Amino acid sequence: MHMYDILSKKRTGLALSREEITFFVEGFTKGEIPDYQAAALLMAICIRGMDEEETTALTLAMAHSGEMADLSGIPGIKADKHSTGGVGDKTTLIVAPLAAACGVVVAKMSGRGLGYTGGTIDKLESIPGFSTNQTPERFAQIASETGVCVVGQSGNLVPADKKLYALRDVTATVESIPLIASSIMSKKLAAGCDCIVLDVKTGSGAFMKTPEEAQKLAETMVKIGQMAGRKTAALITSMDCPLGTAVGNALEVEEACRVLHGEGPEDLRVLSIELAAAMVWLAGKALNLEEARKLAAEKLRDGSALEKFKQMVAAEGGDPHVVDCPELLPKSPYRQVLKSSCAGWVQSIDTQAVGRASVVLGAGRETRESPLDYGAGIRFFHRTGEKVEPGEALAELFSQRKEALAESLAILKTAVKIGAEKVGKTPLIYAMIPENNA
Ligand code: URA
Repeated sequence: MHMYDILSKKRTGLALSREEITFFVEGFTKGEIPDYQAAALLMAICIRGMDEEETTALTLAMAHSGEMADLSGIPGIKADKHSTGGVGDKTTLIVAPLAAACGVVVAKMSGRGLGYTGGTIDKLESIPGFSTNQTPERFAQIASETGVCVVGQSGNLVPADKKLYALRDVTATVESIPLIASSIMSKKLAAGCDCIVLDVKTGSGAFMKTPEEAQKLAETMVKIGQMAGRKTAALITSMDCPLGTAVGNALEVEEACRVLHGEGPEDLRVLSIELAAAMVWLAGKALNLEEARKLAAEKLRDGSALEKFKQMVAAEGGDPHVVDCPELLPKSPYRQVLKSSCAGWVQSIDTQAVGRASVVLGAGRETRESPLDYGAGIRFFHRTGEKVEPGEALAELFSQRKEALAESLAILKTAVKIGAEKVGKTPLIYAMIPENNA
């Protein structure tokens, strides 16, 4: 088999065979196929696309390019949850203990934030003492004993994706549904769970700017999961304004704890229940989605999810008192308020710009090596569609670096649009795939 023939076949729009795709992924991972040929294939895929069989073959070849996590030593049905990336998206902190409280085992690997999107691992590490770096044995022990454990990625999982993603990043080939779907799903398959729930974001802060594009990505990923023998479902949800009110690591932990205490913002609570319900339903812990939703709402209301979260924090070395006493979380000393200059309605919030403003404050990373300021971030007082008066506070910014406040404030000013026209709120959840079978 020759890479030249594979390239010319995809260039002319023909479908590649499983053998050709595997030849490429294995050869590229081993360093036998050079970057220039891999880049040419990525561009051809971007332009010509891939059908379902090709995309599944690509995903499976990538998943098998390194270690495959073996969770068979952990009793119970294991379910994973993945978000395609957002700003203020702290749902894993709520959904993981909530699903566990419903009897699903959540043994999950999560990522760090990069650029304008945050990462669950950074949020958890803002809890004093918390270590996301557990040995595979300890990970299995915590998941078996408490039903929930979230750690950073360990081992040599999906090396093909690491190499391919780095190449896509510099060859303008990130925005391709088969490439995004295979990148995400290869990691989910290698992570070893029986059930996978995907939260596919759409809007100003998402890869997929329209619900239609998000739907296409979601359908592709659900199909791949099913073809690979995993129970898979996806929700298509809004990233047209930050989820909840807090953006920034410790601020988000505090907000997640408020939801676990039965308080907190409505959108975050509703989405967390929906995602947990989907995991419960896929794992067969309820007869249908409606029953799963009721169970999740009840386990949130009666404090079982809160208790699970405390157990997980303690098991991973963190101080469980932060769950009841958020003042124990890191705080950044400098603050500034963004005020509305006029009366009107919040027309829109550019979520990507909010993410950039939070990076300037120290809440996110510009490069993989950037240090984090756990207390830094933004707390919003208004959402899209709400009425504001002149001089009213729209948001409060926090940082350890006083000089970062002005730069971040300038970005945020352009991100929040106030206008005279009354606007409606955008839906939080657009669709579920497969369609709700309740
Ligand atoms: N997230 C991933 O892991 N891969 C992509 O290609 C896009 C988003």
